[in-house]
Amino acid sequence: MSESVVIKLGGTTIADQEQVLTEVAALARRRPVILVHGGGKRLTEWLERMGVVSQWRGGLRVTDAASLEVAAAVLRGVINSELVAGLRALGVDAVGLSGVDGGLLIAERIEDLGFVARVAGLRRDLLDALMVAGQVPVVAPLARDEAGIVCNVNADDVAAGIAAGIGARQLVLMTDVDGVRDASGAKLDSLTAAEAEALIESGVIAGGMVPKVRAALGALAWEGTEAIIADGAAPAALARALDDPTFGTRLTATRSARVGAA
Ligand SMILES: Nc1ncnc2c1ncn2[C@@H]1O[C@H](COP(=O)(O)OP(=O)(O)OP(=O)(O)O)[C@@H](O)[C@H]1O
Ligand SMILES: [Mg+2]
Repeated sequence: MSESVVIKLGGTTIADQEQVLTEVAALARRRPVILVHGGGKRLTEWLERMGVVSQWRGGLRVTDAASLEVAAAVLRGVINSELVAGLRALGVDAVGLSGVDGGLLIAERIEDLGFVARVAGLRRDLLDALMVAGQVPVVAPLARDEAGIVCNVNADDVAAGIAAGIGARQLVLMTDVDGVRDASGAKLDSLTAAEAEALIESGVIAGGMVPKVRAALGALAWEGTEAIIADGAAPAALARALDDPTFGTRLTATRSARVGAA
């Protein structure tokens, strides 16, 4: 168990991320930080501009060859560069990479979604080397599958895979809602795996929240790891996500979730 923190910025929070990026920069001076980003809204805008209409299945974007080309360009090119530049402007020695670079992520294709893969493994020594050198890795959600083909990976899955792979102390998934909401719309302070599956089953947890919650639960394999889903645009979002149990939603492993992940 290291003291590291894996932070994922969602597609919508990225537009409005100046404050959270300042917090990331401050935290990176005290603890090892790995930043992962999604691309959601930005990517959808670019795809629309290129005349490609996105389809979603289980909260994951179906990705054909044309979509993948745009996704790779926008995620690794536009969004990753902006975040690296933003952190560097704040005095952080940030370095951008995708799961393809240095073979950082090992991915396996998910059936029926096109060029979409899930994280199956991590080249931990590469992250360790960057962090020992005082660099903050900023990771775009792309990876090579078993056949060496570049695929889109849900960024929550990337962040959770990295957190699990390095035994991060905390995984913070910043999004555009205050946390996971129940059937009445009330934000939940905490959520177990069993409760989450029931809310997914009943459709209360839907869309992009489904892979997010499942990814967060998957990161709890290490005793002591915390996973938090919170609003990245709220004031002091990162500090509160790390320290304030009333802010965001904390995922808690049940016994069976721990056994399943071991
Ligand atoms: N029960 C729920 N509680 C909270 N949000 C939910 C729930 N069910 C579905 N959602 C939706 O999930 C969305 C967050 O997931 P989404 O994938 O859109 O964003 P993100 O993961 O932060 O960004 P990106 O996908 O770009 O990385 C919320 O904006 C909300 O509309
Ligand atoms: Mg998402």
